[in-house]
Amino acid sequence: MNRCGEHAWNTQRENARGRPESEVRPRCPVVRVDDLPARLRRDTADLHASVESGTGLPDSIRTRSDYRALLQRMHAFHSAVETRLADPRWAGQWAGVGIDLTLHLRAHLLLDDLAALDTPTVAVAQLDDIESFPTALGYLYVVEGSSLGGRLIGPAIRSTIGAVPTSFFESAGRSHPSPWRSVQKALRAIDDDVCANEVVAGARAAFRAYERHVAVPQTAAVR
Ligand code: HEM
Repeated sequence: MNRCGEHAWNTQRENARGRPESEVRPRCPVVRVDDLPARLRRDTADLHASVESGTGLPDSIRTRSDYRALLQRMHAFHSAVETRLADPRWAGQWAGVGIDLTLHLRAHLLLDDLAALDTPTVAVAQLDDIESFPTALGYLYVVEGSSLGGRLIGPAIRSTIGAVPTSFFESAGRSHPSPWRSVQKALRAIDDDVCANEVVAGARAAFRAYERHVAVPQTAAVR
């Protein structure tokens, strides 16, 4: 089975030997992807609905203890994802699609909120490895997309349980909506179906991992 990117590498190799483009292309025909952002929204809508109902946010947060446990699970998940996204294997490719990964890292905001609540972190989530750059881009789509709905959740939680730090939900210090727009632009840079399929598969894997590690409470906050 062809993997995303193979056609490009193969073409470069063959071209170095002086063979015409037409002779080396057929190995993996490029099919233009019309609108990967729209496809992602459509092809992950079921899983978005599932994490929304699985977390039950904001109604599931009735006490400060609920909130602290949620932040712990989110930190365990987001820090594990961010470690994988920052893998040196993808460094050049993030740059290639115009992404400055540092602008998309948010686990430190969870650390800030946990510290302000005098709450320790829990062990980072055990996630599968991310095996291709398009898969990583699918994960980035999900974690960055989660910040969109998150902006509504911080104020709702505060109105239920009173003043608590919500820098993660409110994406403190981030220039909304610019990080989201960068992701959309990067998605539009994916121009063949093999890669696009991997992005969608990556996004679906990310939603499922979120469901496993965040949506269902697994550990109570350490008081
Ligand atoms: C639990 C409560 C949640 C609510 C109420 C919520 C709500 C929303 C809303 C209103 C948007 C559209 C924002 C906009 O277009 O400006 C959105 C987008 C999005 N959310 Fe959520 N969300 C929630 C949880 C999550 C979670 C947990 C994730 C991921 C793990 C997530 C991933 C996404 C993604 C990827 C998008 C972008 C969809 C697109 O392609 O346009 N959301 N969400």
